[in-house]
Amino acid sequence: MKILITAGPTREAIDPVRYIGNRSSGKMGAALAQAGLRGGHTVSVIAGPIAVALPEGIERIDVESAAQMHAAVMQAFPAHDLLIMAAAVADYRPVRRSSEKLTRRGRILIECEATEDIVAAASAAKRGDQRTVGFSLESGRDLDRAVEKLGRKGLDMIVYNSTQAMDSATVEAVLLWPDGRQEPLPCRSKVDFADILLKRAGALFGKTAG
Ligand code: C5P
Repeated sequence: MKILITAGPTREAIDPVRYIGNRSSGKMGAALAQAGLRGGHTVSVIAGPIAVALPEGIERIDVESAAQMHAAVMQAFPAHDLLIMAAAVADYRPVRRSSEKLTRRGRILIECEATEDIVAAASAAKRGDQRTVGFSLESGRDLDRAVEKLGRKGLDMIVYNSTQAMDSATVEAVLLWPDGRQEPLPCRSKVDFADILLKRAGALFGKTAG
């Protein structure tokens, strides 16, 4: 399989110094890349700004903003079978970016617009022999939101996990499929979780796209 993985956060610039972004270590993306190589797959990673090391032997594309990640995914996805969208893409970006560092004032308003939904765009562009997998990180145990995202983003599988997984070496998750199947996965290391996720993703092939 040729696997495309996105990892880490994106940064949406307010000025040359400040940005809006999500907390994300990139550990899940790195674990998925390692699992992909262990499984004998070809792996490409599109990474936002992350400190965590990515394994040797992958093709790595570094990006900063959601717009850059969107462009990189749309360019790379046609040459891959599977997209696993593990990146914590910023949901909003400032409408205007100041070219100079803003001076500190008592109170400011930053007008924002939604970023492009990258995995939804990739799903809409997928051929019949391609699959997309996304994540749904929720504060509470809200599987309904994950089910809704699975449909709205045109995914073949989604991983529900809680915000406790952020920056952690472990993850507790539920895998969900468009046919209503659910598989709870009790807490384990992200490395072990990545092996299971790739096995389930591999099983998506040979079936009609969801
Ligand atoms: O809607 P929410 O951000 O919770 O959806 C999470 C899933 O959608 C993740 O797989 C994430 O990588 C992806 N996503 C995206 N583009 C965005 C926001 C999220 O591809 N702008």
